[in-house]
Amino acid sequence: MWSPDRALVFALVTASHLTPGHVLGQDQLFCQRTDPDCHSHDSRLFTNSVKPQWNKNMTDLTHSLGQFRVSCNKLIESFPIDEIDGNFVRSVRNCIFSKSIPTPLKGPLRLAAVSKDAIEKILNLDVAVTQSEDFLLYASGTKVLPGSVPIAHRYGGHQFGYWAGQLGDGRAHLLGQYLNRKGETWELQLKGSGKTPYSRSGDGRAVIRSSVREFLCSEAMYFLGVPTSRAVSLIVSEEPVLRDPFYNGKLKTERGAVVLRLAKSWFRIGSLEILAESGEIDLLRKLLNFIIKEHFSFIGPDDPEKYLVFYSRVVNETAHLIAQWISVGFAHGVCNTDNFSLLSITIDYGPFGFMESYDPNFVPNTSDDEGRYRIGNQAEVGLFNLEKLLVALSPVLTQQQQKQAKIALKGFVDIYQMRIHQLFKAKLGLLGEEEDDNYLIAFLLKMMEDTGSDFTMTFRQLSEVSANQLRSRDFSDIWAIADLSSHKLFSDWINTYLMRISRQQSDLDRQNRMKSVNPRYVLRNWMAESAIRKAEMNDFSEVEQLLRVLSSPFVTQVAAEEAGYAARPPRWADSLKVSCSS
Ligand SMILES: *[C@@H]1O[C@H](CO)[C@@H](O)[C@H](O)[C@H]1NC(C)=O
Ligand SMILES: *[C@@H]1O[C@H](CO)[C@@H](O)[C@H](O)[C@H]1NC(C)=O
Ligand SMILES: *[C@@H]1O[C@H](CO)[C@@H](O)[C@H](O)[C@H]1NC(C)=O
Ligand SMILES: *[C@@H]1O[C@H](CO)[C@@H](O)[C@H](O)[C@H]1NC(C)=O
Repeated sequence: MWSPDRALVFALVTASHLTPGHVLGQDQLFCQRTDPDCHSHDSRLFTNSVKPQWNKNMTDLTHSLGQFRVSCNKLIESFPIDEIDGNFVRSVRNCIFSKSIPTPLKGPLRLAAVSKDAIEKILNLDVAVTQSEDFLLYASGTKVLPGSVPIAHRYGGHQFGYWAGQLGDGRAHLLGQYLNRKGETWELQLKGSGKTPYSRSGDGRAVIRSSVREFLCSEAMYFLGVPTSRAVSLIVSEEPVLRDPFYNGKLKTERGAVVLRLAKSWFRIGSLEILAESGEIDLLRKLLNFIIKEHFSFIGPDDPEKYLVFYSRVVNETAHLIAQWISVGFAHGVCNTDNFSLLSITIDYGPFGFMESYDPNFVPNTSDDEGRYRIGNQAEVGLFNLEKLLVALSPVLTQQQQKQAKIALKGFVDIYQMRIHQLFKAKLGLLGEEEDDNYLIAFLLKMMEDTGSDFTMTFRQLSEVSANQLRSRDFSDIWAIADLSSHKLFSDWINTYLMRISRQQSDLDRQNRMKSVNPRYVLRNWMAESAIRKAEMNDFSEVEQLLRVLSSPFVTQVAAEEAGYAARPPRWADSLKVSCSS
């Protein structure tokens, strides 16, 4: 049976029953990093044959915000809307959205960071517009964008294993949809923009600390090729916001910030759950039909099996997403059903973390004492969340379809293991399929666990060394492999690996392939922390530097090397506690 405790290593070992027929070829797995269209798996969900035009004609970018329009019509007209107005906390029924005007932040606003890639390629705006006063006002929620009717989404969710009732956008405002020049529709959302009917006991704000982390990590994940929401801008204010960063009763005054973020859809598992829980089945059907029409257009609207097909698709994509998280050492931190996207993209960056030394029990949320959301448990939690999605869909499925959906859910483990197998094979540069490949991968991970060698840099340095250097056992300038080499079985593993790679083409080829999937830079907590400390004093240079470096995580960069981003983490990072209130 599948052991959740050892999900990572065990998944690899038990995946050995897979036949090569299940495994996609290398070229289907990874597009070339040099291809500007290569990122995330967007295209699999939103088949868009329109080639991006932006780089062919930069003058096509919009230079004035006055010409930038979003629309809320589709979202508002497709569903009944909350009839009550005002941002007071209440229990809401029979709607998907409530109208909610953002509350402007106090004090002078400062643009701390902007993603040129998101603003130009997704919003088709010239990055120069971000220097205008208007941009500060629009992207902070002070002024409402042309065409926008700000709304907050009503959803529910299972948090930490239990049904939590009504949750909803408690500090986020959906500004509207933008149809870009590639024919893609993106939803603009502010986070930290004030109270909504769903704020519960919250103040509707987000602090600089958590906003810097969300801004940097969503962009970093995109450039790592992991499906994710995006971040356009980060604006900081002078508004005091009270937080208890370590949940120990020691309150700290921080400052409010707003991130303008983008996703093709912000609907979550919890969006459907709340409707099923409260018996709003007509609305559940309506929302499902909308999501299928807009985002799963390969499913016909009259297909009697459409909800089943939709479910199977989400199961598949979620398995792929979580496998990708593991492959870059990412732990989401709060995998509640309200934080799991129906498009299977990474959303809601909170107490996430990239694992440093390899450890399946790595827990990024320092308050998560039980380790529910430890990195090696994410697949298990994904399975739990998908089970809850199935419960939410049950009212619209026939008995027969419910049975089939359960079979689809069972397939999750196989899909996950197959994907892990593919990803880790690629991380080791293994072509074709050989019987002992799983053993080779699991063996390496076990040695990494025993020696605590750095996850990111071990794979990266294995990509950078030649077979000859491995053979000579000269690891003087490669610290992660040097750490690994202290393992008593290291030589055995190296010999097996060398043998395996000697049976395939050129070694240079292997190195290049591996370098395109094993990042040299990830957003380590100490890196984010260092940028945050400066940002809190209005010095945004390190946020900017990190964004630049993490936009090309597979390419060695001088500034990054000088900053030590690929070096052994500094001493002070050991004692770093990531605070989780955001
Ligand atoms: C770019 O687009 C602008 C406006 O649409 C047009 O005037 C110009 O000729 C185009 N330039 C090129 C090189 O296609
Ligand atoms: C599952 O998802 C992956 C990744 O998006 C995709 O390549 C594959 O075709 C999907 N499989 C099915 C059966 O939908
Ligand atoms: C994600 O989960 C955390 C923990 O339950 C919760 O506080 C947060 O509100 C969720 N995020 C969103 C945007 O729903
Ligand atoms: C971290 O874990 C604790 C304990 O489970 C939980 O109460 C807290 O909400 C978590 N933090 C976040 C941001 O979800």
